[in-house]
Amino acid sequence: MKKLIVVLLALAVVGPFAFAAGGQQAAGGKAAMIGLAMPETHVERWQKDGAALKSDAEAKGYVAEVTYGDADQSKQNQQIQDMLTKGAKLVVIGSVNEGVVSAVADAAKDGVIVIAYDRLITGSGDYDYYITFDNFKVGQFQGGALETALNLKAASSAAPKIITLFAGAPTDNNAKVFFDGAMSVLKPYVDSGALKLVGPAPLSSADSANFTRITTENWRADVAKTRMENLLNSDAKNVVLDGILAPNDTLARAIMEACSSDAKYVDKLPVVTGQDGEIASIQAIKDGKQYMTVFKDTRNLAVATIELADALLKGQTPSIKGARLDTTSYNTGKKIVKSYLLEPVVVTKANFQAVMIDSGYYKATDLK
Ligand code: GAL
Repeated sequence: MKKLIVVLLALAVVGPFAFAAGGQQAAGGKAAMIGLAMPETHVERWQKDGAALKSDAEAKGYVAEVTYGDADQSKQNQQIQDMLTKGAKLVVIGSVNEGVVSAVADAAKDGVIVIAYDRLITGSGDYDYYITFDNFKVGQFQGGALETALNLKAASSAAPKIITLFAGAPTDNNAKVFFDGAMSVLKPYVDSGALKLVGPAPLSSADSANFTRITTENWRADVAKTRMENLLNSDAKNVVLDGILAPNDTLARAIMEACSSDAKYVDKLPVVTGQDGEIASIQAIKDGKQYMTVFKDTRNLAVATIELADALLKGQTPSIKGARLDTTSYNTGKKIVKSYLLEPVVVTKANFQAVMIDSGYYKATDLK
């Protein structure tokens, strides 16, 4: 009995420190808390991001709280405020829009570190670090897929290929980066006449009037489907589209759904791009419907983010494996932030098995 009491007393003394051994401790030896504010759940990937970030943070000895903002920035701001009230020492934010700036300012006032996650927080000078994938390269992959699939190198103004353009949310800086990456590949073909754009035709996100017309509010599938239906009854009514620039998988599937109701595309859909490696789109790629997606392994982004958070909380200089540090390109409009960029991977019918199944990201039974 005496031995049991000694053991229990020892555990009471050592326990908290053992629990927080990996992570930074808050006052009183408790494990420090990290807030994880994700933007939404209607795009599948964010559910995976939140879960991976939480488990990686806890594995390092932190207390972690995940919230989802349902694409409502005021809701996410309240969630961030709650995290600050609970004593979070660091908050990872995948923002909804620039309205997050006030919450970032409050965090800074409290001495709480903010990491912008996947989406650059524009309009703020109150944070120093951003971590994402190389999203310009994501766009280049999308443009490159259309270049290859439509054989643009062999096209000419005498026999142009025809596409229409979609972009992501106008409130998401990534949408501009994806689009400009794609246009860095496609613009020379538009200039030569080998590629004809149907519908609004910006050649850069800087053409804000026309770029806005191809954006999709909050990345909503229903918005993209309706705009595709409208195009099929107007600008794209009297042409056969060879391809469609779709910025992510959720929108790609909505666009393909609209096209499949048009007699012109019943047997053969246009070449449609995507992003995120969503399981429904991997199925569509396997079935020969969607042409490609870009896989951004959120398992890797989560590990890298928590490594960054841990280093910052310990006052150490970060050294993040598998991420390229960019200290010049990402300007919030108030300052240039140190940005860690992970590598995206192109996925087509040729390699989905290796990249998405053999890697363990999905199980073979997830696909029909
Ligand atoms: C972007 C993100 C993409 C895309 C989109 C929808 O910011 O980088 O992965 O899916 O949001 O949430």
